[in-house]
Amino acid sequence: MTTITITRPDDWHVHLRDGDVLKDTVRDISRYMGRAIIMPNLVPPVTDTDAALSYRERIIAQGPQGNFSPLMVIYLTDNTTAEEIHKAKSSGHIYAAKLYPAGATTNSDSGVTSVENIRPALQALQETGMPLLVHGEVTTHDIDIFDRETVFLETVLAPIVEQYPDLKVVLEHITTADAVEFVTNAGPNVGATITAHHLMFNRNHMLVGGIRPHFYCLPILKRNVHQHALVAAATSGNPKFFLGTDSAPHAQGRKESACGCAGSYTAHAAIELYAEVFDDAGALDKLEAFASFNGPDFYDLPRNTDSITLTKESWTVPETMAFGNDEVVPIRAGEAMAWKVI
Ligand code: LMR
Ligand code: ZN
Ligand code: ZN
Repeated sequence: MTTITITRPDDWHVHLRDGDVLKDTVRDISRYMGRAIIMPNLVPPVTDTDAALSYRERIIAQGPQGNFSPLMVIYLTDNTTAEEIHKAKSSGHIYAAKLYPAGATTNSDSGVTSVENIRPALQALQETGMPLLVHGEVTTHDIDIFDRETVFLETVLAPIVEQYPDLKVVLEHITTADAVEFVTNAGPNVGATITAHHLMFNRNHMLVGGIRPHFYCLPILKRNVHQHALVAAATSGNPKFFLGTDSAPHAQGRKESACGCAGSYTAHAAIELYAEVFDDAGALDKLEAFASFNGPDFYDLPRNTDSITLTKESWTVPETMAFGNDEVVPIRAGEAMAWKVI
């Protein structure tokens, strides 16, 4: 039986949501992840230090497994001040700030309408060394949904990177060869997270033979050449690319509807999904750097010191999983997984 042991991984982009579902999302994320960057797009969004610290308390109150640590993030708005960024840094529990272009994704209505409005915050982030996390898509209605990431790189991100040369930037959940190229060619302070679902799937999986709403996420799945570029980047060993699941649960009924929510649930089997991708690419030896080294190195945090072991043993993902009083349909629902954490 094939077995691999890697340093305990972390998830550098996850949605745990809030309220009665938190017990379920915290159980899954803490099963073997050491730390996770917790996305702040709640209703209302986590726009200041006090809100982030109380959200952290609600997560910890669920009794996460192991020594799991939630790393909190504040949500940038047009009104975020430099003082708030400095306060967040001083709290010791907030590790980044998130740029959601207004209207780009779930609960982004309070997001940023123009980079001009966040210049004091960007300056403060650069001073504190806290990364700017970016949902990299333009929202302009006449830009095709498949082009929104690439246009964002050219029109929004390139100027930010040029104007704030020491700002740490994480381009979240990249989906295109263009994003791989952008991050590869930028300075060492620009990195990217890659989800398991963008590595495993392309738009054919979502659209051929019928629409599969559980594959609907943002940025949307692209054509297979982009998927292949993402797999090449993740398995390259380049330290700029690291694990961020963007596990983003929505109740089954909210996905399986005419205008369903964007987001796919992968926290139930995150490292197992990535292991399968790396195995299929003949690059299992690169999994540990991607999952356990590159993220903490980028964030200037220590790597985890303990380990987890995976074995190549088949198991079946449940059709649905508890999600508060509701249910979530996880990625791979009812299907076999190749790897298992033991
Ligand atoms: C995103 O990162 O854009 C989505 O995962 C948002 C969400 O909360 O479902
Ligand atoms: Zn996003
Ligand atoms: Zn997300």
